[in-house]
Amino acid sequence: MAPNGPAIVAEGLRKEYRQTRALEGFDLTVPEGSVCGLLGPNGAGKTTAVRILSTLLEFDGGRAEVAGFDVVRQAAQVRYRIGVTGQHAAVDEILTGRQNLEMFGRLYHLGAAGARRRADELLERFGLAGTAGKSVKHYSGGMRRRLDLAASLIMAPQVLFLDEPTTGLDPRGRIEVWEAVRSLVAEGTTVLLTTQYLDEADRLADRIVVLDKGRMIAEGSPDRLKSTIGGDQLDLVITDAAELDRAARVVAGVCGAEPETRPDTRGITAPVRHRAATLAATTLVEAVRALDEAGIAVEDIALRRPTLDEVFLRLTGHPAGPGEEAGPGGGRPDSGKRRAEPAGHRAEEETTAV
Ligand SMILES: Nc1ncnc2c1ncn2[C@@H]1O[C@H](COP(=O)(O)OP(=O)(O)O)[C@@H](O)[C@H]1O
Ligand SMILES: [Mg+2]
Repeated sequence: MAPNGPAIVAEGLRKEYRQTRALEGFDLTVPEGSVCGLLGPNGAGKTTAVRILSTLLEFDGGRAEVAGFDVVRQAAQVRYRIGVTGQHAAVDEILTGRQNLEMFGRLYHLGAAGARRRADELLERFGLAGTAGKSVKHYSGGMRRRLDLAASLIMAPQVLFLDEPTTGLDPRGRIEVWEAVRSLVAEGTTVLLTTQYLDEADRLADRIVVLDKGRMIAEGSPDRLKSTIGGDQLDLVITDAAELDRAARVVAGVCGAEPETRPDTRGITAPVRHRAATLAATTLVEAVRALDEAGIAVEDIALRRPTLDEVFLRLTGHPAGPGEEAGPGGGRPDSGKRRAEPAGHRAEEETTAV
């Protein structure tokens, strides 16, 4: 691979399952050492893209290279350089955390002593040293996911694929996993992370690619994405809920756009049409004055950047979000499809249970 060349390149990837077009001309370039967030709702094609790029799935058109190697013609070289963590943990329930990592190390021919040493390093790094001797069935969701991440790092991969690493975790588990991912990135690993969580992409990714129905619909840095697609938002909370409609009309007049109202929290949000910061600030001042003249008491008023949720809604016309997602494995259309995949070393089209 050329120094600082892209770690991942996909061009025009197409994949159809019997009836479904999962990817329709998917392009992607991820520079080495960066984190790319592949963001999209359930069914967007994220897992399909990750499985193709990690050589686990055959596809119908286009091409892809990972770490400089073609994922079809040079699949073995690709597999040697990647790690994959799926939505469903690949670790063994019965074994302890340490035994799991040692087992992966042995699988990758590190030898008994080498596997033990690597396991120790990774347990320490992911804050699992204290619970290394416990059977995984006693681990919390966040601990499992960190162990899964550790397992995918046994061979210090150049490129790491994380497919919805925090789906189904509680807030604390999510933060634990985010910290683990950040520490990897600090060491120069290239990461492709899929997520349905806009805040996750915002926090972890250098660049976000928004995927919807098998196509990229937008891309850019989190900031650029937010500022190119949406201008500032005027956010306010009024004191008296009965005044909400009247306040909304005042705000509409100032902002030149129809605001959204939230009766339960007495909140109003409207996009600000102007671009430059000074003009947006002028709008804020005008809104304060207009509401005051109308005799409407304001509890809180501020300008803010749009959230990625708002960005997604504007891009696709439908809200992003976990859809009918119900926790780990709960009610997913694809749950159970990927059982116990050892990190990144399977090449069959559809893996079966071991
Ligand atoms: N093995 C499969 N057989 C048939 N359809 C599939 C299979 N895997 C995924 N799909 C369909 O392909 C589309 C993309 O799925 P997927 O890549 O899993 O999306 P995501 O990971 O973004 O939720 C969805 O419509 C899904 O139902
Ligand atoms: Mg998926």
